[in-house]
Amino acid sequence: MNREADGTGLRVYPGYLDRDKQTALLDAVDEVFTVAPLFTPRMPKSGRPFTVRMSNCGPLGWISDENGYRYQPTHPETGRPWPPMPATLIAIWNDVARYGCPPEACLINYYGPAAKMGLHQDRDEENLTAPLVSVSLGDSCLFRVGGPRRNGPSRSLRLDSGDVLVLADDARLAFHGVDRIYPRTSALLGREGRINLTLRRVHAPAAATSQPDPAAGVVREAP
Ligand code: SIN
Ligand code: FE2
Repeated sequence: MNREADGTGLRVYPGYLDRDKQTALLDAVDEVFTVAPLFTPRMPKSGRPFTVRMSNCGPLGWISDENGYRYQPTHPETGRPWPPMPATLIAIWNDVARYGCPPEACLINYYGPAAKMGLHQDRDEENLTAPLVSVSLGDSCLFRVGGPRRNGPSRSLRLDSGDVLVLADDARLAFHGVDRIYPRTSALLGREGRINLTLRRVHAPAAATSQPDPAAGVVREAP
C-alpha cells in the first residue's frame, strides 16, 4: 500500500484509512472541535485572515496571528488546553513515522470549498529531524510539493479522503501547499470541505522535559 513517491523521504499511503476508520477518526475530530473550536488564524504582521480555519489537539498547537507563528499549549480564543490526541492518530504516527518518539502537536486544518494553503515549509519546530505525518479526510485536494527551495521544481498530486502522506528525511523541509479543493468529491463530512490533520514532533526527544513524556518506558530509536 505504501507508495514511495520518490527517493527523497516523501511517502504517500493512498487509502490508508478505510471508510469505517475515516468515520471513526472524524467522530474523534468532531469531539476535539467541541472543546477546541475552529478559529481563523491571521498572517503575522498584516493580520490578514487565512482562508483555512484551524484547531489543534495534543500537548501543543500551532497558531498564527499578528505576533507570528508559534506553538502554544492553549487555544488562542478559549485559553483552554488543547484536547488530547485521539489514539487513532498516535497509532498512525507509530505505524508510518519510523521515529521512536510520539508526536506533540496535531494541527487540524478545515478547508471550505474555496480555501487554499500557499506554498510553505514547516519549520517552526525546534526538531527538524522528526517527520511530518498528514492525514486527509473529506473532499479531495490538489496538493503541491517541491523541494527545499521555494522556486525549485514542484509537482502536484491529488490527496483523497483516507490518504496519509509523510514528509521525512530529505523531504522534511519540502515546500508544500494546497492549490485547490475539489468540492463534493467525498460525502464523509456531510458537508463540503476537507479536513487535514498534521502530526508533528516539536521538541527534540531529550528536550521534551516540561511535561511527562507519554513515551516514557518505550524503547527509543535514535532519530
Ligand atoms: C499544511 O501544510 O499545514 C496542510 C497541508 C494539507 O492540508 O494537506
Ligand atoms: Fe505545512
